[in-house]
Amino acid sequence: MTPSRRSKPLAGVSAPASAPAWIQDIVHLNRQIPPQAHTPMYVWHKYWSRKTWNVVQEHIKTYCPKGGIVFDPFAGSGVTALEALKVGRRAIACDLMPVATEISRLTLKPIQLFKLQEAFERVEKTVKNKILSLYETPCRRCKKRFPFTCAVWQKGKLKEIRYEACPYCKDRREKNTPLTKADSQLLSAIERSRIREWHPRNTLCYSDGTPFKKREKYASLDQLFTKRNLQALAWLMEAIEEALSAYARKVSGGEWMLRPEYSEKQIKRIHTRIIAILAEIGKRQAMAFGSAGESKAIRSAKGLTRARAIFETS
Ligand SMILES: C[S@@+](CC[C@H](N)C(=O)[O-])C[C@H]1O[C@@H](n2cnc3c(N)ncnc32)[C@H](O)[C@@H]1O
Ligand SMILES: [Zn+2]
Repeated sequence: MTPSRRSKPLAGVSAPASAPAWIQDIVHLNRQIPPQAHTPMYVWHKYWSRKTWNVVQEHIKTYCPKGGIVFDPFAGSGVTALEALKVGRRAIACDLMPVATEISRLTLKPIQLFKLQEAFERVEKTVKNKILSLYETPCRRCKKRFPFTCAVWQKGKLKEIRYEACPYCKDRREKNTPLTKADSQLLSAIERSRIREWHPRNTLCYSDGTPFKKREKYASLDQLFTKRNLQALAWLMEAIEEALSAYARKVSGGEWMLRPEYSEKQIKRIHTRIIAILAEIGKRQAMAFGSAGESKAIRSAKGLTRARAIFETS
């Protein structure tokens, strides 16, 4: 924040004389902070109620000195802790929900971008077309088939298919698009088929592990998804595990260990590819940011943490 944009102390808000100097020096935020869109590090998951990162960051910069500790006991997916780290504060975060703390941990986890890129391409190649074929619809104008954007269900029945633009004739259907015969046939074929790949069927229960006292609408985890969704996720899961097994093997406790046999030759081949990708990113960023963009892109691709890499390019 530049000094000229700094606000005056809030009327009637002053620290007691006994407070440490840095508290006395706080210049309170008394202006609106326009929210910015979530960056990629915050949108890879759907955990509820994530706060806007730049608003949280402004509060941390104002109310916690550099090197200080930010504590968030209801951390959710970790926006406060991650923003604290980005601006040179330390962070302690916890949450009752294991999935929340796992999301924070994964967002911070150091990754090697070239390995991630390669693994992603491998997964994409294996399942992309298979998954998209589950979502095909005929264009209402030119009749050619392509993956739709949205399926509308009401009371357990598929009522409508919507799409943004047919890739062949640009036809657009955003409402009142009843199913065609082909849509119903595809759906019943999926409903009849058996999902062969592993997918969770755990019985749903209360959070302390005791079974439901009365019959609920959904009894097991798989019932929370449509069959089409579940099949797509089961394929995706299988492809991710298969891609992972190229680099790592599963050891006890569900952990993965890097394969020592990952050969020099393979690493060299990946390096060559990453240099090409880097050159491409560098070019684009240089265009977007001027010459500073190039060194930014190179730093961010050198295997920095996901949080730092994204911070540097955001
Ligand atoms: C509104 S969310 C926090 C969102 C977070 N501020 C963000 O920006 O991502 C509230 C969180 O508090 C957690 N929570 C609720 N009761 C809790 C408790 N007693 N101890 C720890 N965490 C709790 C919930 O699991 C949930 O993740
Ligand atoms: Zn069309």
